[in-house]
Amino acid sequence: MYRKMKARLDKVVPDVELRYKAELAAEIMDLKQKKNAVILGHNYMEPALYYSIPDFVGDSLELSRKAAQTDKDIIVFCGVKFMAETAKILNPTKTVLLPSEKAGCSLAASITAEDVRALKRHFPGVPVVTYVNTYADVKAESDICCTSSNAAKVVESLKSDTVIFLPDEYLASNVARETGRKIVFPALTPSPLPKSGEGAGGEGIMIGWRGRCEVHEKFTVSDIEAVRQQFPEVAILAHPECSPEVVAAADFSGGTGAMIRYVEQSKAPQYLLLTECAMGDNIAAANPDKEMLRLCSVRCPHMNQITLEDTLNALKLDRYVIEVPEEIRAKAYRAVERMIKIG
Ligand code: 13P
Ligand code: SF4
Repeated sequence: MYRKMKARLDKVVPDVELRYKAELAAEIMDLKQKKNAVILGHNYMEPALYYSIPDFVGDSLELSRKAAQTDKDIIVFCGVKFMAETAKILNPTKTVLLPSEKAGCSLAASITAEDVRALKRHFPGVPVVTYVNTYADVKAESDICCTSSNAAKVVESLKSDTVIFLPDEYLASNVARETGRKIVFPALTPSPLPKSGEGAGGEGIMIGWRGRCEVHEKFTVSDIEAVRQQFPEVAILAHPECSPEVVAAADFSGGTGAMIRYVEQSKAPQYLLLTECAMGDNIAAANPDKEMLRLCSVRCPHMNQITLEDTLNALKLDRYVIEVPEEIRAKAYRAVERMIKIG
């Protein structure tokens, strides 16, 4: 295991750390096999974990697909709670483990199921799209889920001029622009919804919510300008959870999987990723010929909770088990399954 990790991570992880983590990873691999488990790792996992124990790595949509297909008894989700819940929604008879109880998400925490019910009472009949970065009870109130990689496709699939899109203010604004809609953030007082066609260009309407990713909201256009001044040919990639101004100033915007593919397939002299910093390390490890710039002052405090130590304990102690009440799971399943079918 040490040799395998060294070959990939020599320039990214100090040797002393690599030796220690390789031992943990070897123990996890052993237990994984004994317990017939599958390990799914999100693209934001730290390099030593990302390149050692997962059977599959990917963005949230790719991992939902893998979760839906697995025949293992246990799914260990190296990601955050809403992702592990999605795996449970898709696999009610399997044990789903999340290695840390602290791996939340500011977007998932920004909205409750009652908030969604209030919006539905206010805007009866308007279809509800929820970002997968929400908890199961919120998904259960939705017509369909989406991830950052399929959000525009999901919205367009509804063939509705007016769509409720929850809970990320910035993702909603970016998708509204992409799909030619006006975005509104209504206070839930009896103010009438603008009628379809009342937007500036006679376009459709997207009703948003003021949730934000505490990581991506921190990137600014000044960050981009400062980096471009120093590296005029840099390619700048922004996650769609960044503000519309930041997305407009970047060269590319896409989910974590799309960002990885963009770097692999293009030939810029440098790249700057406006997203969780660990992903830059993971891309640098796989593409030693590419120069990755980092703005690592901004980290996701939730994804960072998932360590090799906690993953080992998760498998040893069967913790932390993700439970979703059946009546909520069955309703949330419809919304997640409908998304997966769209792709
Ligand atoms: P992706 O769906 O792009 O993997 O993003 C998940 C996430 O939490 C981004 O902050
Ligand atoms: Fe949530 Fe943002 Fe962390 Fe992604 S990066 S898990 S959206 S807080």
